[in-house]
Amino acid sequence: MELNVKIPCDKDNYNVYFESDFKRLKELLSSINASKVMLITDTNVSMHWEKKVLLNIPESMKAFTFKFEAGEASKNLDTVNLIYEALTENKFNRTDLIIALGGGVVGDTAAYVAHTFKRGLPFIALPTSLLSMVDSSVGGKSGVDYKGIKNMVGAFSFPEFVYINTEFLSTLPEREFYNGFAEIMKHGLIKDEEYYLWLIDNMYEICEKDPDTLLKMISHSVLIKKSVVENDPYERGERALLNFGHTIGHAIEAYFKGEYIHGEAVALGCVAASYISWKRNMLEMEDYYEIRDMFVPFNLPITIKTDDLNEIIELMKFDKKNTGNEINMVLLNKIGEAVLVNNIGRDEILKALEELNFKDEV
Ligand SMILES: NC(=O)c1ccc[n+]([C@@H]2O[C@H](COP(=O)([O-])OP(=O)(O)OC[C@H]3O[C@@H](n4cnc5c(N)ncnc54)[C@H](O)[C@@H]3O)[C@@H](O)[C@H]2O)c1
Repeated sequence: MELNVKIPCDKDNYNVYFESDFKRLKELLSSINASKVMLITDTNVSMHWEKKVLLNIPESMKAFTFKFEAGEASKNLDTVNLIYEALTENKFNRTDLIIALGGGVVGDTAAYVAHTFKRGLPFIALPTSLLSMVDSSVGGKSGVDYKGIKNMVGAFSFPEFVYINTEFLSTLPEREFYNGFAEIMKHGLIKDEEYYLWLIDNMYEICEKDPDTLLKMISHSVLIKKSVVENDPYERGERALLNFGHTIGHAIEAYFKGEYIHGEAVALGCVAASYISWKRNMLEMEDYYEIRDMFVPFNLPITIKTDDLNEIIELMKFDKKNTGNEINMVLLNKIGEAVLVNNIGRDEILKALEELNFKDEV
């Protein structure tokens, strides 16, 4: 299956291709007029996919590879510097090409290098994690962490095209698969009730990684992200809705220091935000309980265990949606309709966290 999605950006539109094998990769790459290509990847992805991708680089392009240690710790300016060095040594110029082969860490880093080296080289994104397919490869945000602060240095930069191939998912660790699924569930909750219900109906096929179901799911999630990004390419309004589950999620992620990976913390944040929505008479009670329980079959947590919930609220002070001392959050008017609500009370958040906090009967 192939579906081209036009995403408007200041440069041009770009296509997102959806495939379930590698048959078209070479042809797509041939559409770029470059004599050299730098394949940027990480140590895990390289092990499984570097050879396969190199085989699909057109003979007219001389291929180089830059590989860095997998993981968020590599998403920094030191890695960027090393890539600049490799590009300089091999005399890359503005007509040469960068390919990002990897998850969001590779994608964000390589896109930032492409944006800044010699004031910009063309790049192509080959996202290999579920999260990078449905989230980070769409929307044009690139960048790296700086002094431990996430995405502190970056730019909006847009690829020539994004190539999503579900075959990459065959080697993705299970936990990383469900990590990405949390963002997919979020897409249904904030924008599309029918899609949310489809996800529930297709739970078995998704967990079994049925190729057709994955393709439908990924392309639909990309369409949802595209529609939000299209309306607000530089994150001045509607794009904030994509932050559903992230205010409390980020604080939980920071508080538990690695116990929950991002998507797991987002799932917890979605449950907490849905609880607040219910208590504000926005969401029906049955909907809240359904949302909460629907994360479980996808191996995502719905409870935490701590005796210091206040510390989690303290960590929310750093959320980018806050204004002054107010904590602002994305809530649900109903399933499929999200809204940014200002000045959420500390007591409301505490009650939502108490609801998450482990009890024997849950
Ligand atoms: N630019 C954006 O709009 C945006 C949006 C969301 C997240 N992000 C960023 O994305 C990053 C998270 O992305 P991620 O979850 O993909 O993390 P990641 O890139 O670290 O990938 C997760 C793990 O899976 C491995 N992996 C990836 N694909 C694989 C495959 N096919 N087979 C085997 N192993 C594979 C990686 O090596 C890594 O160990 C964060 O840095 C986050 O800030 C960016």
